[in-house]
This record gives sequence, C-alpha cells and structure tokens, in this order.
Amino acid sequence: MNAFRFQTVPTLVVEYGVARRLGVLLREQYPGLSRLCVVTDGFLRRSGLIDPALADLEANGWQVTLIDDVIADPPEQIVVDAASRARSAGVEVVLGLGGGSSMDVAKLLAVLVPGTQTLQQIYGVKQITGGRLPLVQMPTTAGTGSEVTAVSIVTTGAKTKTGVVAPQLLADLAILDAELTTGLPRAATAATGIDAMVHAIEACTSAHLKNPVSDMLAQQALRLLSRHLLRACDNGADREARETMLLGAMFAGQAFANAPVAAVHALAYPIGGIFHLPHGLSNALVLPHVLRFNVAEAVDVYAQLARVVLPEADRNPRELADRFIDYLESMIKATGIPRRLRDVGIGEADLPRLAQDAMLQTRLLVNNPRPVTEADALAIYRAAY
Ligand SMILES: NC(=O)c1ccc[n+]([C@@H]2O[C@H](COP(=O)([O-])OP(=O)(O)OC[C@H]3O[C@@H](n4cnc5c(N)ncnc54)[C@H](O)[C@@H]3O)[C@@H](O)[C@H]2O)c1
Ligand SMILES: [Fe+2]
Repeated sequence: MNAFRFQTVPTLVVEYGVARRLGVLLREQYPGLSRLCVVTDGFLRRSGLIDPALADLEANGWQVTLIDDVIADPPEQIVVDAASRARSAGVEVVLGLGGGSSMDVAKLLAVLVPGTQTLQQIYGVKQITGGRLPLVQMPTTAGTGSEVTAVSIVTTGAKTKTGVVAPQLLADLAILDAELTTGLPRAATAATGIDAMVHAIEACTSAHLKNPVSDMLAQQALRLLSRHLLRACDNGADREARETMLLGAMFAGQAFANAPVAAVHALAYPIGGIFHLPHGLSNALVLPHVLRFNVAEAVDVYAQLARVVLPEADRNPRELADRFIDYLESMIKATGIPRRLRDVGIGEADLPRLAQDAMLQTRLLVNNPRPVTEADALAIYRAAY
C-alpha cells in the first residue's frame, strides 16, 4: 500500500435545527471567548435564514461583528476589507455561515487577522507561516464541502480564481444543520449538488494523493448524493434528502481535501471567473466532456463508480465507464440546469481564451488522470459548446 496522510476537521456536529442553539454550542466549544466574527453574504442576512442563529448568539453573550458583504466567487478586496474590520473589532473567533464563498472568506480572516502575512503572500500551497484564530464553519449549501477542506478560493484581479491551500484552513468545528438548506432554490440545489458529486469523482481519480480513506469517503458521497439530488431538487422541504445531501457533500469535501480535484475544476474556473456563473454550474457544463476525455486513463475507476450509482452493473469495465458518464449527463439534464456553454451566453469565439486560462490552473491539472494540453482543453470546451 502507498503511504498516505489524511487530515480533516476534528469535530463535526450534525443535527437538524442546531443553528437555533448556535450560541450555546459555541459557548461549549470556546468557554471564555466572547468576540465573534460572523461571515456571511447579504442575501442570507436579509432573508432571515440566519436570524435564529444570530439571536441565540446574542442570548449567550457573544459580541458579534457581522461581515455580510461576501459575494459569490469572492474578490480579494472583500477579504482584505473584512480582515481589517475584524482586526479593529478584536475578534477572537471566526464563524463562516453561508455557502462556499462565505466559508472561504472566513478561513482567510482566521489566518489574516492575527497574522503578519498579506493575502498575496499566502496564495498557493502551504504558504501560510503562522497560526489562525479559532474557526467554525456552518454551510448553508450542500456543495463545496468547504467546511472540511483546507482550501479557500478567491477571485484575483478581474477574472482569475486562485486558491490558498494550507492545513491552517481546516476548521476546529464544522456544524451541519440541513434545516438551513431547505430554502435553497432548485437551480442552486442542483448546481451545488453537482459540485459535490464532482468533488467525489475527481477525488477518486486524483493522480497522486488518492488513498483508501479518500476513496471510501468519495464513494459513499457519490452513493448518497446521486440518490438524493433529484429528490432535493423536486421537493426542497424533503428533510431526509436535504440531510443526506449535506452529509454527502461533507464526505466529498473530506475526500477531495486529501485527494485534490483536477481537470473538471480547472476548466470550470475560467467559466466562473470570466462569465460569473455559479461554481457548480460551471462544473456541470464541462463534467461529461472532461470525463469522456479522461475515460481511457480512468476506465477502472469510472467502472467502479458505475457500480456505486447504477443498479445493474455486470458489464465490462469500458461499457460501465461509458454508462457512468451517460448517467451523469442524464442526471444533469433531469435537474433542468443549462447544459451547453452556448446556453449561458458563452460564444464560440470565447473558447480559446477559456482554454488559455484553464492552463493556468496547474495546481489542479497535475491531479488529472490524463495530461491536458491547451489543445485538449479547447477540444473539451468545443464539445461542451
Ligand atoms: N474551499 C473549497 O474547498 C471550495 C470547494 C468548491 C468551491 N469553492 C468555492 O465556493 C464558492 C461557491 O460556493 P457555493 O456554491 O456554496 O455558493 P455561494 O456561497 O457562492 O452562494 C451562492 C448563492 O447562493 C445563496 N445561498 C447560499 N445558501 C443559501 C440558502 N440556504 N438558501 C438560499 N440561498 C442560499 C447565496 O446567498 C449566494 O447568492 C466559489 O467561490 C467556489 O470557488 C470552494
Ligand atoms: Fe468545487
């Protein structure tokens, strides 16, 4: 067996409705601390969704600095401004309460507020030299798994997505309350759920760091997500489907935090960066086409995943692998989200630029089971067009 290392968040609390007791829970976790920075976005703040959580924080003596100006695919200036506010307030604990965007900003605040490094100095893998403030994550989407990953993604400059990857970004505590996800609209449920499925799939083919624990988590993630995604789309109030999606997304996060994602994400990032599409939708648009490109090199893994998601699975590996890809394509179709680049305002003339930008995602491309050249990327975008 290959030697491996597996890291994850030490404490998980999974409980429907637990946001209503958030103040008490954090009291137990951090006795003696009182200045808390809550990082969320404007929509969640205005929607009232997080009001019960905020009320319980107040009732339990937490002095809250509320940062609610996170936007999807957060630009670096938002992080820098938020860090300066949190520093002036002398915050002692950081809580990410929202989708991947809010949780990613929370991670960076926890590092930047007590530290001496600038945001630019920590881009890349393992560039953080200091520690961080106590950090808690509470997702409101079942998608990114950011609550258990050591990854934070920001938009640098106008359009490029850059990652910070470092063990310091793993939270002390992740709290999963599926009640927070019951109001997520169909399209967002689909896109975030497919993002989570892609995390599981790419973890299974991750070229260097895939290991028995990440495989086990990714397969279970895919099993849970594939059986509940359409249920959650069709009936947002289906508690079992929402709970299972949130758990599956977390398993997928634990998997890809240790066995990193690859070409689907590398080709999705330029779509999100340039055209401001939701992260999960960008992934869904290229998913079947990247998998068809990979299939010859990943046939055994895709066949194994076919056995996880499909009822009759007694064929030869190549047939199974192809059926797995077809299955994913039909699931994306059933969710009703757009399926072609041309359907989301991307022109044929934009494809070479996308291919050029995808090549910048070297951190991700090295994990792909098959090397991807710029010409390959362009061919994949053409297939997705
Ligand atoms: N750190 C990681 O490991 C990791 C992994 C994958 C993606 N990402 C990043 O995460 C971001 C995407 O995160 P996301 O997909 O969770 O979306 P998001 O956080 O960008 O939120 C998208 C939209 O959904 C809304 N929303 C969130 N929860 C809701 C709810 N319960 N009900 C109604 N609306 C709700 C938000 O207000 C926002 O308008 C991207 O920046 C992506 O690059 C990070
Ligand atoms: Fe993702």
